[in-house]
Amino acid sequence: MSKTWRDIGSLYQIYPRSFQDTNGDGVGDLRGITERLGYLSWLGVESVWISPFFTSPMTDFGYDVANYCEVDLTFGTLSDFTELIEAAHSYNIKVMIDLVPCHTSDQHAWFQESRSSRDNPKRDYYVWRDPAPDGSAPNNWRSLAAGRSWTFDETSGQYYLHSFLPTQPDLNWDNPAVREEMKNVVRFWYDRGVDGLRVDAIWGISKDLELADDPVNPDFHDDLEQYGSYIHNKCKYGPNFDQYLGELASVNDEYEDRQMVFEFYPDEQLGDIYDQYGRVATIHPGASAFFMEYRQNNWHADATKYAIGRYLERVERAVPFFCIGNHDQPRIVSRLGHERARALSFQNLVTPGISVVYYGDELGMENGDLHADDIQDTFSPSHTKFDSRDLERTPMQWDDGENAGFSEAKPWLPVHANASRVNVLTESGDDSSLLHMHRQLLKLRQELPVLRSGSLEFFDTGNGYVLAFKRELDGTRAYVLVNYADSPQTVALPETAVLLASSQRAADGSEECSSIELGGYEAVLLVVR
Ligand code: NOJ
Repeated sequence: MSKTWRDIGSLYQIYPRSFQDTNGDGVGDLRGITERLGYLSWLGVESVWISPFFTSPMTDFGYDVANYCEVDLTFGTLSDFTELIEAAHSYNIKVMIDLVPCHTSDQHAWFQESRSSRDNPKRDYYVWRDPAPDGSAPNNWRSLAAGRSWTFDETSGQYYLHSFLPTQPDLNWDNPAVREEMKNVVRFWYDRGVDGLRVDAIWGISKDLELADDPVNPDFHDDLEQYGSYIHNKCKYGPNFDQYLGELASVNDEYEDRQMVFEFYPDEQLGDIYDQYGRVATIHPGASAFFMEYRQNNWHADATKYAIGRYLERVERAVPFFCIGNHDQPRIVSRLGHERARALSFQNLVTPGISVVYYGDELGMENGDLHADDIQDTFSPSHTKFDSRDLERTPMQWDDGENAGFSEAKPWLPVHANASRVNVLTESGDDSSLLHMHRQLLKLRQELPVLRSGSLEFFDTGNGYVLAFKRELDGTRAYVLVNYADSPQTVALPETAVLLASSQRAADGSEECSSIELGGYEAVLLVVR
């Protein structure tokens, strides 16, 4: 019997452009993923999330979908995908793919029709509005990809809405036909054996029905061109948010054991962020929301304890998804430095639910050492290397050979110069590597149900630098201690336990401890069976 989403403990995110190229064009592809499934199985990964590989002009590298039910030629064919999924299932690895429901590419046939005339039957698939009386945009909404959310279309004399790039027009979810189309897209992939969906940018699924202006943020009145100058309570989370999201997630009920996980960044301007997590993660039993608070880089034991505790409390019965990196955030090592990133990765692999690992983070891949003219992502406001998401999207570092084993051709983004050291081949031969730490903990997650589904209770060690929690299930207790200080800290345990794993020292399960001296930034796992 294959495991259900409630039994598995890890999700590995693959950015397909950068994972493995097999056809020599310098861009990763689906066959490349299939070839590397053996590695993922060796690592102990139980599910993968593959970022978009659908037909796309790639102005947002696949998050601008021109055909939801076709594979872009860059990545292969539908039959390559079928092979991938069959192979993944033969390794007992579940496959999650990305659903981008709130916008399409401007090259999508729906938009092409929609923009062709005001009375086209697909006009109402998108959000079209007349100009304001002075000819300007219909309201003050700002795009997350810089600039206004509205672009004027000369042909029909109206503006269309785009919460991201002008090449990514927003779908009009208030139109029931759009909701039905998107549910059919979900069915299309579920029918092909896809086990789950990461659902992109859900906040935009419902907007204020009048499309009223967003209020100006009182803390930012100097530059009204900026996204942060507004409180976004009109352009997102409209009155139909819960209904539309629930409708989408209810497609899960037509299938066995399907899981959705929403891309969701709570917004402090809109109230308690954990209430927002709760709202989203309880919309449907088969849906959840990523924990994204590690991106704040708030390196503090108490703040982390609070964040994890509140998230777990609010997501209630949903599967928690703990995430420390993705294709939109700078690499974890570059954000925190090697030692802290190692401690955080350890911690993330012993919290409840599903631990998410962004490709290459298991090696300690750093932000790319890119030059301004390497940059391809047009999404960032300045289009420079300083705020580009390309930094975290450089090719996977497989070995110390040419192009790090990623491709025989020049890769679409340069391979990091540290690939001679930081790579799968080298680290797999080194017991003290970050890769080995990931493998050890991913295997333990499979062997010890307490790590996957045990309860989590924080306890006080009397030392404010040490984050400490107990996991418990059916008589097994596991203790996790993470030293947030760079200096050694000694802490007593509530009971004698066996040291199973450490982020810094070898542990073979033979050492019993009632107290322990942790090295600076050391994380440990102990167990009582
Ligand atoms: C979130 C995705 O993660 C990001 O990469 C993309 O640019 C936007 N949504 C728009 O789809």
